[in-house]
Amino acid sequence: MTPFHLNNKTILVTGASSGIGRQAAIGISAMGANVVITGRDKNRLNDTFLNLKGNNNIQLTSDFTIEEELISLVKKIPQLDGVFNCAGIVKPFPIKFISAQVLSEVFDVNFNAQVLLMSHLFRSKKINKNASIVFSSSIAATHPYKGGALYSSSKAALETYSKVIALEFSNVGIRSNCIASAMVKTPMYDTAEHQGTKERMDEHIKKYPLGVGLPSDVTNAVIYLLSDASRWMTGQTITLDGGFLLGDF
Ligand SMILES: NC(=O)c1ccc[n+]([C@@H]2O[C@H](COP(=O)([O-])OP(=O)(O)OC[C@H]3O[C@@H](n4cnc5c(N)ncnc54)[C@H](OP(=O)(O)O)[C@@H]3O)[C@@H](O)[C@H]2O)c1
Repeated sequence: MTPFHLNNKTILVTGASSGIGRQAAIGISAMGANVVITGRDKNRLNDTFLNLKGNNNIQLTSDFTIEEELISLVKKIPQLDGVFNCAGIVKPFPIKFISAQVLSEVFDVNFNAQVLLMSHLFRSKKINKNASIVFSSSIAATHPYKGGALYSSSKAALETYSKVIALEFSNVGIRSNCIASAMVKTPMYDTAEHQGTKERMDEHIKKYPLGVGLPSDVTNAVIYLLSDASRWMTGQTITLDGGFLLGDF
């Protein structure tokens, strides 16, 4: 029997109303899991929901940076065998213009809310033994770029945090890993294109030997990390970059 399936598991996916989270939720349900999806936009979340396989999925609209919404979200979440923490935002800011407001805007979504969500889930005993936790990091955590102080730092913080989950919960078989993706074609990619210039983005994507990624490329790695096939893997980061970090080609 193959371990590369998600039968009899219940998986929470944040950021499921768009991009990678949306595709991951659909892929995870196709691999046999019941999926609990969350995001802010009700219509787009419902659109994901309608594309899920199976009849035991749940959709919960929530802005998890608002503490009351986070607490009410956790109360509605059933027992979990896995979490894909995928919500995130990108906001380039030159260092000298960083304010307290923009600092919390980025860290609230990319780090603080994810840490608080996991604390609430663990405290309320919603995470089953042998569960798998996955975070959506970025190659920007280890290969930062000009203007990326907040985004890159928030992802680096997430990778370190994931390693501590791996240490603190290994006694109950709970694993925690990250996926560090390079450019993936999603609405966030389009935002990044608008925040920089189209020419700069075109130059950048020429450096990918296998081209930029698709949400399904990330989904397949997420499924592996959530499945029992990765039973011996914890505290690690899988890089998905289409060969970008190999250098000139
Ligand atoms: N695309 C890339 O090139 C790339 C590369 C490396 C890493 N990543 C990471 O992968 C993850 C997904 O990226 P993506 O490209 O799929 O982005 P996306 O299409 O912009 O989706 C982001 C998701 O995060 C949710 N979200 C944002 N703020 C939220 C909040 N306050 N409360 C609850 N949910 C919130 C959004 O919900 P609503 O839309 O409903 O507001 C949406 O579902 C992010 O963590 C990103 O940093 C992306």
